[in-house]
Amino acid sequence: MRRFPTGVTIVTTVDEGTLYGFTANAFTSVSADPPMVLICVNREASAHPIISRSSIFCVNILSSTQTEIAKRFADRARRADRFSEVSTHAAITGAPVIDGCLAYVDCRLAEEHTAGTHTVFIGEVLGSGANAGSPLGYFDADYRDFGLEVGAG
Ligand SMILES: Cc1cc2nc3c(=O)[nH]c(=O)nc-3n(C[C@H](O)[C@H](O)[C@H](O)COP(=O)(O)O)c2cc1C
Repeated sequence: MRRFPTGVTIVTTVDEGTLYGFTANAFTSVSADPPMVLICVNREASAHPIISRSSIFCVNILSSTQTEIAKRFADRARRADRFSEVSTHAAITGAPVIDGCLAYVDCRLAEEHTAGTHTVFIGEVLGSGANAGSPLGYFDADYRDFGLEVGAG
């Protein structure tokens, strides 16, 4: 898997006003009509039971300027202060969208499948948005700037 280049996302959710989020690259599209995506989440991740309970999640695709956010949301020691210096606004589902991300995909949980240590959460896409910029990449266990650029829209 180290030889498979990916983008980097922050999967967010919310429960009774408390925001949760973690860094994830196990994210892919599933279906175009209806629009559906999947994420694979370790059952030990603090957001795992929250996604099951709230039935909502938002996948924030990071821009190349957001490496610090990716590191912070993958650091278990920083679970409590992850959102303290990150500006967000609520998506349609109420899950937080990280301001300045390259794009986001806001989902209602549709299916849940157990596989090994992880759960595959399949979400129906209720909303999405995109900004101009360049993606944060991940390859050979390190964050990368793939040198790609995309305009708005
Ligand atoms: C680049 C990268 C990609 C990751 N992808 C995933 C993923 O797809 N699913 C997952 O469950 N954890 C993934 N992780 C690990 C979680 O981000 C990490 O375990 C995090 O601490 C879990 O959240 P928690 O501390 O709130 O439990 C990834 C970590 C990195 C650095």
